[in-house]
Amino acid sequence: MTSIFCFVIPFMLILEIRIQLSDESEFLVDMSKTGLTHVPKDLSLKTTILNISHNFISEIQTSEISSLSKLRVLIVSHNRIQHLEISVFKFNRDLEYLDFSHNKLGKISCHPTVNLKYLDLSFNAFDALPICKEFGNMSQLKFLGLSATRLEKSRVLPIAHLNISKVLLVLGETFEEKEDLKSLQDFNTKSLHIVFPMKKEFHFILDVSFRTVINLELSNIKCLVDDSACSDFLNVLAKLQMNPRLSNLTLNNIETTWNSFIRILQLVWHTTIEYFSMSDMKLQGKLDFRDFNYSGTSLKALSIHQVVSDVFNFPQSAIYKIFSDMNIQSFTVSGTRMVHILCPSQVSPFLYLDFSNNLLTDMVFENCRNLTELKILNLQKNQLKELTKIVRMTKEMKSLQQLDISQNFLRYDEHGENCFWTKTLLSLNMSSNILSDSIFRCLPPRLEVLDLHSNRIESIPKDVTRLESLLELNVAFNSLTDLPGCDTFSSLSVLVIDHNSVSQPSDEFFQSCQKIRSIKAGNNPFQCTCELREFVKNTGQVSSEVVEDWPDSYKCDYPESYKGTPLKDFHISELSCNTTLLIVTIGAIMLVVAVTVTFLCIYLDLPWYLRMVFQWTRTRYRARNVPLEELQRALEFHAFISYSEHDAAWVKNELVPCLEREDIRICLHERNFVPGKSIVENIINCIEKSYKSIFVLSPHFVQSEWCHYELYFAHHNVFHKGANNLILILLEPIPQYSIPNSYHRLKTLMVRRTYLEWPKEKSKRGLFWANLRAAVNIKLTE
Ligand SMILES: *[C@@H]1O[C@H](CO)[C@@H](O)[C@H](O)[C@H]1NC(C)=O
Ligand SMILES: *[C@@H]1O[C@H](CO)[C@@H](O)[C@H](O)[C@H]1NC(C)=O
Ligand SMILES: *[C@@H]1O[C@H](CO)[C@@H](O)[C@H](O)[C@H]1NC(C)=O
Ligand SMILES: *[C@@H]1O[C@H](CO)[C@@H](O)[C@H](O)[C@H]1NC(C)=O
Ligand SMILES: *[C@@H]1O[C@H](CO)[C@@H](O)[C@H](O)[C@H]1NC(C)=O
Ligand SMILES: *[C@@H]1O[C@H](CO)[C@@H](O)[C@H](O)[C@H]1NC(C)=O
Ligand SMILES: *[C@@H]1O[C@H](CO)[C@@H](O)[C@H](O)[C@H]1NC(C)=O
Repeated sequence: MTSIFCFVIPFMLILEIRIQLSDESEFLVDMSKTGLTHVPKDLSLKTTILNISHNFISEIQTSEISSLSKLRVLIVSHNRIQHLEISVFKFNRDLEYLDFSHNKLGKISCHPTVNLKYLDLSFNAFDALPICKEFGNMSQLKFLGLSATRLEKSRVLPIAHLNISKVLLVLGETFEEKEDLKSLQDFNTKSLHIVFPMKKEFHFILDVSFRTVINLELSNIKCLVDDSACSDFLNVLAKLQMNPRLSNLTLNNIETTWNSFIRILQLVWHTTIEYFSMSDMKLQGKLDFRDFNYSGTSLKALSIHQVVSDVFNFPQSAIYKIFSDMNIQSFTVSGTRMVHILCPSQVSPFLYLDFSNNLLTDMVFENCRNLTELKILNLQKNQLKELTKIVRMTKEMKSLQQLDISQNFLRYDEHGENCFWTKTLLSLNMSSNILSDSIFRCLPPRLEVLDLHSNRIESIPKDVTRLESLLELNVAFNSLTDLPGCDTFSSLSVLVIDHNSVSQPSDEFFQSCQKIRSIKAGNNPFQCTCELREFVKNTGQVSSEVVEDWPDSYKCDYPESYKGTPLKDFHISELSCNTTLLIVTIGAIMLVVAVTVTFLCIYLDLPWYLRMVFQWTRTRYRARNVPLEELQRALEFHAFISYSEHDAAWVKNELVPCLEREDIRICLHERNFVPGKSIVENIINCIEKSYKSIFVLSPHFVQSEWCHYELYFAHHNVFHKGANNLILILLEPIPQYSIPNSYHRLKTLMVRRTYLEWPKEKSKRGLFWANLRAAVNIKLTE
């Protein structure tokens, strides 16, 4: 325990000095705890901080370290170095921090070094104080850690003129009790920390009449044997009175009796000490001491940390009484397993009480009217259970501003009854309890800071008393499902609500909470759906200054496809989220389509085109599916054309030239006339030798010619056998009624519209011809 603590104190200083150093860009190489036996060879030349502590290094050589010209901080603590040669650092001109504590140093070889601000040689095996004459030139030295088993006055003189901030002196286990600690008076330092041998009873003679020391810290004080055994230590303390500069006294790792403990307190009470702190105490025995003399003290603050005691064999109320009647402003008793404390027997000057980490119960300061000055009360980490009792306790504390009752077992199941907090409370820490939603019905009205993190809150009721002064609200680690609005907290400027169950934060938050300066809402199970869009948008706008931990802690949890996606990368279109917009858009699109279709139908005759295209496609399809050989059997012509005399002009001037131009062979019965055969036979001949038969339909054709063919077709069954071979061109529209009823076949064909229509408009004729050609075009065998 002691060794840990001894290490901690210098370490705190390390941190301070590092903060100063870190202004410039640092290059840290941490090779601590890596089993090194030598300084590693291939270190970067940029290294400014090198940590090789907790290794097995026994020696450092110039060659190993000289190339690190930028080195400022070197930590070699907890190694096995026996001999320190300061000259090895002669090339490290920037070196200002050197930690050789916890080694086996017994010898030091001096060399001028001027830049060091921090030099720690404590916890080593030095016999005499390791102070060289050259140290006298280290005018910047702020911290000096030393260890010795022997003190000689002359050894301190070389540095007596330096203004050192802190000196740590560790006295080795073999340090003799009769050694003269007078030489310490020559240290010119504000803080002096003396670590006495751990295992020895305290029989040292220390003259504390220092010239400059303001903070005195003494560690390892053991006076157990009997009550008078502590007299040597008490003698040391008695002399504190002779040193009016001394204002802070810290005692660490004390092992003594209850009586000696109270005597120490009593002694310090009548000195000039203002801040007195005792930590890590082991107390035993009985307490006979009763009449503590509180009069005439300079003490402002007393802290007692970490006390372990044997079984109490005396009434503890004696200690509680001594404690509670102390006439000081600030009093801390923490980590002591104290189960109770009494109410001061008269109006107490306590301003600050810290009883954290004890075993206090709800009965603490019950009905106590004598703490009217108290401003800050810390009851963190105790055994408090019923909030109503604590509320009642504060009622009498007329000045209480800050109360910390976090890390207890507090619950509140009532509905705002019995809730009379002192009106003065400004800051209330109730984190890490088992409070539920109802807590919002029992809060002090002028509260500015409220910490409720790690409780069991599921929602913040809407109808609760308004906290108009509340500036900071922490409800992290609860089960809230939404952000609170600011109707009840009109001044809210800081909201912490991370690690809850907020899935769809309401987008009104930013409108409602105009004064918000900072919101921390990460690590919630966000549902990345439309509802979140507005929030993400608003968050994106204010993010960097206001939203804490944005964007890293804000991720989608649902839907599955978005899980883990950072909210900042979650985008969903306006359209898919806005139903009205969606309907309007669909309506608009449909309207445009309808208008276009109408336009196409009316002005460009779209249906006609569609029909042509359909027929063309069908022809192509059929052509592909009919075996070529079958088609080509004994064909001489691509097409036979049948028409009425009335349409002869169109056939001869338009149709025939247009087809023949493309090498399409046409059989016209009058042109390819075979003498000696009747017209009908000639026609049959033509039909049989042609791949297709084209009929040019018009009212004339139907009225006059159709009957001939009908007769013949019926006879030869042509329509049934080779319906595919028919191409009907409708030259002029034929009204249904004008087709005689007996022409069933023609009627059917007309109704099915399986004909090509001759377009009146020139522009459409290209397609007509292409369609026709496609229908008749086939490679004929010569
Ligand atoms: C050096 O390393 C030790 C051991 O890992 C660590 O405790 C210490 O904080 C480090 N010191 C600095 C200044 O980084
Ligand atoms: C300290 O520095 C001065 C000049 O800066 C020098 O003369 C003197 O020798 C130095 N002292 C030691 C002990 O190195
Ligand atoms: C130490 O401080 C005193 C007074 O504050 C000053 O006169 C003296 O020069 C300082 N010494 C050094 C070495 O800085
Ligand atoms: C004495 O201790 C108190 C409390 O720890 C601290 O605030 C104060 O700065 C210290 N005084 C000096 C002179 O260091
Ligand atoms: C208490 O201490 C003060 C100051 O040391 C002293 O004057 C006074 O006599 C003491 N009172 C008692 C009852 O011992
Ligand atoms: C509070 O102080 C008064 C005297 O000022 C005293 O009579 C009373 O007993 C004290 N209250 C408690 C609970 O000790
Ligand atoms: C409340 O107490 C906890 C420890 O229990 C602490 O971490 C937290 O910072 C405190 N909150 C405030 C607002 O001080």
